[in-house]
Amino acid sequence: MKNTIVNLLGADHPWVGSIHYYDTIGSTNDEAKHLAEQGAPHGTVLIAGTQTGGRGRMGRRFHSPAGTGIYLSVILRPARKAADLMHLTCGVAVAVCDAIEAATGFRPGVKWINDIVANNKKLGGILTELSLESDGRVRYAVVGIGLNCKQKANDFPAELQDIATSLEAILDTPVSVPRILAELLVSLEALSDRLSEQDALMDLYRADCITLGKEISVIRGNSQISGTAIFLENDGSLIVRTNTGEQIRVDSGEVQVRGLYGYC
Ligand code: BTN
Repeated sequence: MKNTIVNLLGADHPWVGSIHYYDTIGSTNDEAKHLAEQGAPHGTVLIAGTQTGGRGRMGRRFHSPAGTGIYLSVILRPARKAADLMHLTCGVAVAVCDAIEAATGFRPGVKWINDIVANNKKLGGILTELSLESDGRVRYAVVGIGLNCKQKANDFPAELQDIATSLEAILDTPVSVPRILAELLVSLEALSDRLSEQDALMDLYRADCITLGKEISVIRGNSQISGTAIFLENDGSLIVRTNTGEQIRVDSGEVQVRGLYGYC
């Protein structure tokens, strides 16, 4: 697997010499954080064949079976403050869409803030984790990406069958995992070079984000607020007009979109 990716990437790619491949691992994000703490440089790449403890946002598990998906983490060391990196997950989402489109010709959408979606189901997700200096500068960021590539509908556990899909299920044709991985490393490296272009990156994210204009439900603790997603700020926060006429800003937590993942 690693040799195929290296060959597809070519010797000129700046990250080609720092790819780590694991047949099995707990979580590539956990191992990336461990390597980053030991000084691993910007552009260190971790790829796994399967994860036994794959994690998603909000403490959720990311189902990571062998032979069907992409489980990738990259260590970035941007010379920026965390406050100037609020758009990182959005930029990564655009990079994931770019990579899938380059490898397959198909461009998926993004459900705010970190889900990659197609046909109203989840294709994958992004888990971004930051470590900061005391003055707010970023020591490192770990960008984790999980993508369902080869699963058939009934390969997913029962609780995910109405929610999750894969690229092959959508496209009805085989996809190449190494090719998508190589394209991901191309698009992520390009993104890491243009993180200062926040406005332009957020415009690209708005174009891919299927949540905008939709009826949504914001989950806040035990309460739920219904409304319409009307705008995305450049820091990635979502502006929602509630059904009671207020305007609220959502910058964390869970949003359900009517028509997606069986929410109606
Ligand atoms: C989500 O759906 O909320 C995000 C899922 C992110 C999963 C990826 S798989 C590679 C990396 N390692 C992890 O443990 N999580 C991310």
